[in-house]
Order: sequence, then structure tokens, then C-alpha cells
Amino acid sequence: MSTRPPVPDAESGRHTDSGTGGSRTKTGAGAGTETGAGGGAGAGAGAGARADVARSRADGGRLGGRTIVLIGGGSGIGLRVAHQAVAAGARVVLGGRSPERLAAAAEPLGNAATWHTVDVTDRPSLASFFDRVERVDHLLTTAATYQVGPMRELSDEDAESPFVSKFWGQYHAVRLAAPKLAADGSVVLMSGAAGARPPGPAPAYAACNAALEGLARGLAVELAPVRVNVVSPGTVDGNLWQQRPAGTREAAFAQYRRDTLLHRLATEDEIADAVLFLFGNGYTTGSTLYPDGGYTLR
Ligand SMILES: NC(=O)c1ccc[n+]([C@@H]2O[C@H](COP(=O)([O-])OP(=O)(O)OC[C@H]3O[C@@H](n4cnc5c(N)ncnc54)[C@H](OP(=O)(O)O)[C@@H]3O)[C@@H](O)[C@H]2O)c1
Repeated sequence: MSTRPPVPDAESGRHTDSGTGGSRTKTGAGAGTETGAGGGAGAGAGAGARADVARSRADGGRLGGRTIVLIGGGSGIGLRVAHQAVAAGARVVLGGRSPERLAAAAEPLGNAATWHTVDVTDRPSLASFFDRVERVDHLLTTAATYQVGPMRELSDEDAESPFVSKFWGQYHAVRLAAPKLAADGSVVLMSGAAGARPPGPAPAYAACNAALEGLARGLAVELAPVRVNVVSPGTVDGNLWQQRPAGTREAAFAQYRRDTLLHRLATEDEIADAVLFLFGNGYTTGSTLYPDGGYTLR
């Protein structure tokens, strides 16, 4: 994985009709450093716009007027959730470390999107993020940067990185969001099908995903009537894998096509669809949804 420079200051933006970058307020709240997949702002609105409108009709208005916080929403799955949620009439607050990525992601979403920089591995940064968010109806945190590999090969620090970033990042995001969560709102935790069926030797990463499913069950009990669920995707042909070396990506994709019932990868929109279902369905809590093409079944 490539390394990113430190994020020196927390920044925020609100799209204006006349501008592309939004206004930014420097607060001086520091954000920490973390290694991460670099790259652009992910998929834009264009091609998916008509599908988004169709989904908005199917949503039955459940997300209209709601505020959905998407930490990691500057790219990939989170960005597709943002597009689908805005098409359904929601407002979105995007979070991530790169102000450039966030500004580019928010721009096509117009006045429905605001953004603030945040590093989920840095608690003061997360606290400062939630200080700026007035209300949370639904929360998804796709933000995570970690190393994956065999116990016998990874350094202790790399082995612990999924827990540091993906597990504790989401835990603290929920903790800080909790006082602002609407009683009829929800949290969707991001896991991964590798937690149920490891595709190769990466035990700490598998354990992290499995732990997130347990975390959701525990939080569903503690936070009720707020609903807490998990989305556990299979391999997605999207921004995350595009940042990885071509050889690694193609080998993983070939293995996934072979091992899953539908013999293809997921799209980011298919995972976003599953997230919107969990946001909107008022009687689902403590559950894990596997949009994985049948991978965990075989
Ligand atoms: N894609 C898949 O095949 C797949 C499958 C199963 C599970 N997942 C899970 O989905 C999540 C990744 O979502 P994605 O596929 O949409 O990847 P992605 O496009 O790389 O999105 C991750 C986003 O999180 C931000 N981010 C990373 N580290 C951060 C940190 N420490 N603090 C704040 N923001 C951070 C990144 O922006 P900055 O770099 O600008 O901060 C980026 O916008 C991970 O939890 C992954 O395990 C993905």
C-alpha cells in the first residue's frame, strides 16, 4: 500500500452552486497519519444517475430528509451510498483524510453534501468531526486502512492494523455518534466476507471482520431502539482494488470468480444497495447481510 502524507488540519466544505471546492474552515484540530491506498475520488455521478433515480422511487421515501454520515464516503462503496442516498432525498456528510478527495466527491452531489476531514485512527480527530455534525440519522464507516497477510509473515504492527483502523475506528465512530443518533435511525458496520470464509491466510483480518459482527450484536442491544447491522461484502470490482497492484488484483479476482456462486465480482452499487436496505428497513437489527454472490455459502 502507498503512504499518504499527514493531514495537517481538519478542513470542512459545503458545496455551493457557484464553486467546485466548497468553503473550508481551518480549525487546527490535528488529524493523524496513517498509511492508505491513494487514488482519486472514485466513481462520479454520471453513469449511475438514472439507476439512482429508480432506486429513489423504490425506497418509498424512507431516507428523505435524513442526515446520513459516511466516513470514508469520498470514494468507493461510501461514495456510491452517498449518491444513492442523495437520490433518495437524504443529506450526506462525508468524512475522510484528504480534503481534495472529499471536495471532488461532494461537488456532484450539490447542496445535499457537506464534508469534514477526519482520521478514524485519531480519536481527537474523530471527536472534532462529530462536533461539527448536528444530527445523525444513519452512520456508515467504510474508512479503514490496514495490512492483510499470514501471521507468520506480518509484523505485529501490521497484524494489528485491521483492528486499529477498521474495528476500533468504527467502534469509536459509533461511540461519538451515539448522542446524536436519531431513535429511529441506524448504524451499518462494515465487515467483509473474509471474516466468514478466509480466501487465504490472513487470520487477523478475518478475526477483525468476525469481531465486527459481534460488535453489531452487542451494540444493537445497547443502543436499541437505534438499529445496528452489518454489511459483509464479497470482493468488489471498485476503487479499493484498483489501488492494488494489477497482478495481485487479477489473481484475487480470478479466485473470487471461481469460488462464488455467481462467478463474478460485486459492483460498488450493489453493496451500496444493501447498505440502503439496512438503513431503511425498520425491523432489522443485529443482523449481518452478505452481498457476496454466494461466496460464504460454498
Ligand atoms: N472493496 C472490497 O472488495 C471490500 C470487500 C469487503 C469489505 N470491504 C471493506 O470496505 C471498506 C473499504 O471501502 P471501499 O471498498 O469503498 O474502499 P475505498 O474506496 O478505499 O474507501 C475507503 C475510504 O476511507 C478513507 N479512509 C481510509 N483510511 C481512513 C482513515 N484512517 N480515516 C479516515 N478515512 C480513511 C479513504 O479516503 P482517504 O484516503 O482520503 O482518507 C477512502 O475514501 C473496508 O473496511 C474494507 O475492508 C471492501
